[in-house]
Amino acid sequence: MSSEKRQLHLGLFLFGTGYHPAGWRLPEGRTDGAYDPQFLKEVAQKLEKARFDFFFLGDRLATSADMQYLFPSQMTRLEPFTMLSYLAAVTDKIGLIGTVNTTYAEPYNIARITASLDHLSRGRGSWNVVTGSDPRAAKNFSREKHWDNAKRYDYAEEFIEVVTGLWDTWEDDSLPRDKESGVFADGSKVHSLDFAGEHFSVDGPLNVARPVQGQLPLITAGTSLRSQQLAAKYSDMVFTGTNVKEVARAFYKEVKGRLPEYGRIASDLKVLPGLVPIVGRTEEEARAKYNELNELVVTDYDLRPLSEKIGIDLTGYDLNDPLPDLSSSETALHWAEMARKANGRPDITIHDLFYFFTVTVRGHLLVVGSAVQIADLIEEWFVDEAADGFNVCPPYMPGGLDLFLELVVPELQARGIFRTEYEGDTFRDHLGLSRPGNRFELQLKG
Ligand SMILES: Cc1cc2nc3c(=O)[nH]c(=O)nc-3n(C[C@H](O)[C@H](O)[C@H](O)COP(=O)(O)O)c2cc1C
Repeated sequence: MSSEKRQLHLGLFLFGTGYHPAGWRLPEGRTDGAYDPQFLKEVAQKLEKARFDFFFLGDRLATSADMQYLFPSQMTRLEPFTMLSYLAAVTDKIGLIGTVNTTYAEPYNIARITASLDHLSRGRGSWNVVTGSDPRAAKNFSREKHWDNAKRYDYAEEFIEVVTGLWDTWEDDSLPRDKESGVFADGSKVHSLDFAGEHFSVDGPLNVARPVQGQLPLITAGTSLRSQQLAAKYSDMVFTGTNVKEVARAFYKEVKGRLPEYGRIASDLKVLPGLVPIVGRTEEEARAKYNELNELVVTDYDLRPLSEKIGIDLTGYDLNDPLPDLSSSETALHWAEMARKANGRPDITIHDLFYFFTVTVRGHLLVVGSAVQIADLIEEWFVDEAADGFNVCPPYMPGGLDLFLELVVPELQARGIFRTEYEGDTFRDHLGLSRPGNRFELQLKG
């Protein structure tokens, strides 16, 4: 494996109306795609044709109508594993990642749901483990308060132990279903888990046979120390969000540096930041689309959040004013530089900076340009070890995805850094992971 050339991993992070908050307002933007099975099927099949690694669905367990201005796609959406089960039936190769928030779930149920998806997709299921970024969820689950970071991660760690243990409770050959002898199940190959921890006591076995992949790839998303530790111990891939290459490089190094503590090596964990590509057939076309999208943002132009972020008060300025002297704040200089890049010109106004901030507030890397320019940036982050690939967040749907697949993917393939054929049939295959042995079987042998 190690002698082979390192390859990019690419997945779709689905925002039904696009990552850009005004993606749905473009004349060609779909407004209800994430509810339309035909649309979802077409998207997943296109990704497969482009040899993408995965189709990813995030989730949160609370909502409100005011999310429409910044997060229209996340305000209402389908339950991830329900959607992925449907997609499993209309695709053959692509990995299917669903999010489960461990703070508000029971491991037995989640082991069952995830194992079921893995069977229905013939080995393409995967679980993004989150502990919940929206504290309002507590009140939807009969709780007074969202737990603090430490408790959420303690709970998540035990949760993962239970789920991954339950996946192994049936050995691969525990179901001979032998008509001749009448032996359907071989009880000597079925194990109880007998987990007794601080938060869970779970006997097992699970009521689903061992997943096709044995263990589903685990994904985590977060940057706090606890989140990094969780990633280093359990994850096969970690999602991040930053638009600063040096920050991405530092995270990459730090999180991979934690792996040896858990007996793992750097290549065991893939690091994928989010990428928002605004692609044009020419650079001018891409910039025109960026401007068109920004002009459609529904906003009251409140400059306070931006001022807080950059540490310089902009509230007294007119939107059409040029940027004031920002040299007292490194952050401000940095954001201004990124906004200039997105706009493709040095003389930006407060208006331009405001738009850049508003549309990248969730922190993913936004890039505006031709296919070659976007491929250059992807390659640079990849080669410089800021990323092992990207979680692609098209700014609008489906056109923003189509241009990426049509123009950028072939460019990456021509450079020899992205696959032209799948390596195998399971998601583990795409990630270069072998199928793990069963812990109970190994214990008995060992
Ligand atoms: C790409 C990406 C996707 C995420 N998806 C979700 C999600 O679907 N649901 C959720 O509750 N949190 C999600 N998160 C948030 C993280 O799980 C985590 O709660 C957040 O990064 C803060 O946690 P930390 O303090 O451990 O970093 C996501 C984060 C990133 C970077």
